[in-house]
Amino acid sequence: GLKIAIIGSGSTYTPELIDGFIRLRETLPVRQFMFMDIDDRKRTIVGELCIRMLREEKMDSEAILTADLDEAVRDADYVIIQIRVGKLPARILDETIPPKYGLLGQETTGIGGFMKAQRTIPVMCHIADRVRELAPEAFIINFTNPSGIITEAVMKHGFKRIIGLCNVPINMTASVREQIPDGELTMDYVGLNHLSWIYHIEQDGRDITEEAIRQGVKSERMNNIPPSDLDREITAVAGAVYSPYLEYFYDREHKKKHNLDSGKCRGEECMEIEEQLLALYSEKTLCRKPELLNKRGGHRYSEVAVNLVHDLYNNTGNVNIVNVRNGDTLDFLEPDDVIEVACAIDRDGAHPLPLRKIDNTHIKTMMETVKEYERQTVNAGLTGDRTAALRAMVVHPLMGDYTTSQKCLDEMLSANQAYLPQY
Ligand code: NAD
Ligand code: G6P
Ligand code: MN
Ligand code: MN
Repeated sequence: GLKIAIIGSGSTYTPELIDGFIRLRETLPVRQFMFMDIDDRKRTIVGELCIRMLREEKMDSEAILTADLDEAVRDADYVIIQIRVGKLPARILDETIPPKYGLLGQETTGIGGFMKAQRTIPVMCHIADRVRELAPEAFIINFTNPSGIITEAVMKHGFKRIIGLCNVPINMTASVREQIPDGELTMDYVGLNHLSWIYHIEQDGRDITEEAIRQGVKSERMNNIPPSDLDREITAVAGAVYSPYLEYFYDREHKKKHNLDSGKCRGEECMEIEEQLLALYSEKTLCRKPELLNKRGGHRYSEVAVNLVHDLYNNTGNVNIVNVRNGDTLDFLEPDDVIEVACAIDRDGAHPLPLRKIDNTHIKTMMETVKEYERQTVNAGLTGDRTAALRAMVVHPLMGDYTTSQKCLDEMLSANQAYLPQY
C-alpha cells in the first residue's frame, strides 16, 4: 500500500481530500496517511475528523498526526503540499496593503500573489530538499499558491518530481460542457496558472469555436472571485473562453473598486468561514465533510489531486490539465517555464500533449508578459534579489508603475520580514 503525506493537513480542505481517497479506495490502496502541520490546533481538529471519516467507511489505513516534517515525508510515495506560510493574517496583508497604493489586493494575482510567493518559496524549497533526501522516488503534488510560480521555483531549485495543480481547469471545462450539453466535445486549453483560456472547441469533430464565442460561452464564476458582469463582447475580444481569473485583467477597475468598497477582504471572510468549519469539525459525531466547505474557492480541488495520484500510481495515461515544465511544448516561452496544459499522466509523471496551433496572438502576448513577471518572481523568491522583484512588478499589467511598485514593495517586505530569509 501507499504512504501519502499531507503537508499543511490543518487546511479545512483536507476532509475533501480524504473523501476522494475513500472514493477511489479500490484502485488506490493507502497504507498510511501522514497528517503534518505546524499548527497544533488545526492539525488535531482536522486530523481527528479525517480519522473518523476513514473509520466510518471502514478504511483500515493507518493515520498519523505529526508536526515533524521528516517523519511525514520519510519513504512517502506522494507528498501533497497545501501550506499557507504566515496563514490567513499574511493573506490579509497581501489583500489590504496594495489598495493603499491603488493596486489590486488579491491572493494570487498581482502584487499580493508576488508577496505570497516570496514567503512561500523558501519553505517549499526546504520541504523539497527533505523529500529528495528521505523519499527520492516520491512525487510532490503541489496545491500551494501561487501554484504555477511555486512549482517553477521548486523545479528551478533542482527538484523535478513536482506537479502543480489548480481547480480552475476542471471547473472551466465542466462549465463549458454544461453550456454545450450535446454531442462529443473536445476542448483545447492553454495558459499559466490563473491565466488560462480554452481556445478551440469541437463538437462531434466540428469546429464550433466561433459559434461558442458569439454566444458568449463563459466559465462560471468561482466563490472566491467577486462577480463581474462583463458582456459577451469580451469573449470575442479574448477570442477564447477565459478563466475567471482573467477578470482581474479585463475588468481591473471594477475589481479594484470592489476590493476598496467591501468592508471585509476575502482573507477576513475566510477566517470567519474557517472558524465556523473548525467548530463543526470539532463535533465528535461528525464523520463526513460538511456543506459549508463549498463556500470556499477550492471547490473540486480534492478531486483534481486524488485523480492525479490515481493516474500516477496506476500508470493510466489519462489526461489531466496540470502545471508542468514547458520543454518544447510552447515555442514562444522558455523550456524551463512552467505552464498549465493538458498532460498524459503515467508513473513517470506528467507529459504535455502536443498542442493545437495557437493563432490567437492576444493569448500568446499575455502569456509571454505574465510569464516574464513569473520568472522574475521566482528569481526574487529564490535569491532575495530586489532588482528582480522590481523587474517582476514593472512588467506586470496590473502593476507597471515603478515608483508605485517600489513603495508598495517596501511596505510589504517590511510587513513580511518574519517570513523572508532570502532577503
Ligand atoms: P490554510 O490557511 O488552512 O493553510 C493550510 C495549513 O498550512 C495551515 O493549517 C498552516 O498551519 C499550514 N502551514 C503553514 N506553514 C506550514 C509549514 N511550514 N509546514 C507545514 N504546514 C504549514 O490554507 P487553505 O486555505 O487550506 O489553503 C492552503 C494552500 O492551498 C494555500 O496556499 C492556498 O492558496 C492553496 N490553495 C490552492 C488551490 C489551487 O487551486 N491551487 C485551491 C485551494 C487552496
Ligand atoms: C480557487 C483557486 C485557488 C484559490 C482559491 C481561493 O479555487 O483556484 O487557487 O486558492 O480559489 O479560495 P478561498 O476560499 O481561499 O478564497
Ligand atoms: Mn487555483
Ligand atoms: Mn512515461
